[in-house]
Amino acid sequence: MKQPDLSKNETPIFCAIDKPDLDSAMLLCEQLPKGIGIKLGLEFFNALGKHGLEMIASRFSNIPIFLDLKYHDIPNTVAGAIRAATKNFTPAYLNVHAAGGLAMMQAAKKACPQGTKLLAVTILTSLDEEAITQVGYHAGVQNRVLQMAQLTQEAGLDGIVCSSYEIELIRKECGDDFALMVPGIRPEGSEIGDQKRVMTPANALRAGATHLVIGRPISQANNPAKAAIEILDSIK
Ligand code: C5P
Repeated sequence: MKQPDLSKNETPIFCAIDKPDLDSAMLLCEQLPKGIGIKLGLEFFNALGKHGLEMIASRFSNIPIFLDLKYHDIPNTVAGAIRAATKNFTPAYLNVHAAGGLAMMQAAKKACPQGTKLLAVTILTSLDEEAITQVGYHAGVQNRVLQMAQLTQEAGLDGIVCSSYEIELIRKECGDDFALMVPGIRPEGSEIGDQKRVMTPANALRAGATHLVIGRPISQANNPAKAAIEILDSIK
């Protein structure tokens, strides 16, 4: 299998800034070395809102931001939400749920500013086989993720968010020109925490991921800058 060309990818890792207050979020962002982007998600956004978002975006305008708000609503509402969120800044990546459907993803893509890549969440990594059956999906996690990834491609989006266990399948079926942003990443020997299916940074990239989301192994380290540099060294 041909691997995607990562040589031009200057930011293969996004650090999850899962902090409830602006001061500690700013402090963590300040410690990130070159090569690590900023991921702001629902916890940050609901605690600190658009103001918090724009404070980070203006203070760290040289660092790519992944806005992980996982929009899932009717097309018109998602498009409006994206226009509102991106009025004053351009995130490098933004995401929606693929389960919102083809028309919603197309509307979302149209609403994204130029310079923002749009990804779709396939199946949340917190859902296992039993849990997806409970919500009415009977084809199994892998088949479901593949179906969602193909729908995402049809809608013209730039890639998906998936677990490390689906990387090889999706890379094989969806080709090289498709971003795979992968959370649940743990460097050798670090705490797994509540993640179920984890992989090391080097193995995930080797399998075909283009970007990795890493939170606690950096944010909870005694020295976040050192931890981040060690992770970058491990994927050189
Ligand atoms: O600390 P940790 O590395 O587990 O953080 C992973 C980050 O990725 C968290 O912000 C979490 O919300 C996010 N995420 C995830 N699984 C997904 C999508 C996002 O863990 N399927």
